Amino acid sequence: MEVVVSGIRPTGSLHLGNYFGAMRNFVKMQHQDNCYFFIADYHSLTTHPTPGDLHGNVKRVLVDYLAAGLDPEKVTLYLQSDLPETAELYLFLNMNAYLGELERCTSFKDKARTQPENVNAGLLTYPTLMAADIILHRANKVPVGKDQEQHLEMTRTFANRFNRMYKVDYFPEPVAYNFGEELVKIPGLDGSMKMGKSEGEGNAIFLSDTPEAIKKKVMKAVTDSGPTEPNSTKPQAIENLFTLMKVVSATETVAHFEELYNTCQIRYGDLKKQLTQDMIAFTEPFREKIADLSANEEYLRKVVNMGAEKAHESAAKTIRDVRDIIGFRKF
Ligand code: TYM
Repeated sequence: MEVVVSGIRPTGSLHLGNYFGAMRNFVKMQHQDNCYFFIADYHSLTTHPTPGDLHGNVKRVLVDYLAAGLDPEKVTLYLQSDLPETAELYLFLNMNAYLGELERCTSFKDKARTQPENVNAGLLTYPTLMAADIILHRANKVPVGKDQEQHLEMTRTFANRFNRMYKVDYFPEPVAYNFGEELVKIPGLDGSMKMGKSEGEGNAIFLSDTPEAIKKKVMKAVTDSGPTEPNSTKPQAIENLFTLMKVVSATETVAHFEELYNTCQIRYGDLKKQLTQDMIAFTEPFREKIADLSANEEYLRKVVNMGAEKAHESAAKTIRDVRDIIGFRKF
């Protein structure tokens, strides 16, 4: 059986990018593999060192995980901060990670640019913490979106380096996984290339959004005055709307609007109405479950405690082995 690990930062409710990039695959993989899915609350401190509502954000992601269909009896569902073994492995990996390679990481460069007042060491060593999450369970498959590709490459570097330095064949080489397909990148509604929590108001549709909120965001989405030449290439913002439509609408619906676009008859108001309707229908089942689960604190506590216990078993074994491999001995 394959060992699968993946995580999501608790920066608020999950959006369609999280769902189609990662969560959808978690749900499928839980039936076939040994899965560890967690909430990356340590990671969230790299951008929000004094978070306003850490617990509330963790709860929102936990509820979304469950609403999306993860079965806590099948998968190990836990909080990263319930597994301090993660921090110990992170420390060991940091000893063998070099400043140059960490500084070259795209996500570090982006964050150093967007938060110049807080370029902290956790931001720099984000990839070693992420590698620790993954190799702590000696995973080989990691369902993630396209934006995480480079982090996975770095995870392989750190895992291989550990094996080489200590002359062992202990950690497998984990790969980003999407059932043999290209990794996914869901665009934003504001014309930007990526749907994301921090990309600004109106960019993302959350699984917990009300129908009114969805309508407002979709209707405000960026468009232009429409094509003037048949079969012309779509500008980015229009391409984005079609990409979003492909994930929530029926194939015939997409084909219908493609045809209207290609024959210059498209009315973006109609496309947005359809997209609104399909997004509301798509998120409906999540919304209902989210409301129920949020009210059930006792169940959530049970899920998290069970997850911590299961995750600890696998993590403790790895840390024992790693300490032994490095040469720590008991007196
Ligand atoms: P995070 O919290 O930014 O996103 C969680 C997951 O959602 C995917 N994702 C997207 N996929 C497609 N299109 C989008 N617009 C989009 N936005 C987000 C991400 O690729 C990710 O799979 N570093 C990770 C969290 C993490 C992790 C790990 C993941 C920490 N440790 C170990 C895997 C394994 C992150 O910030 O994801």
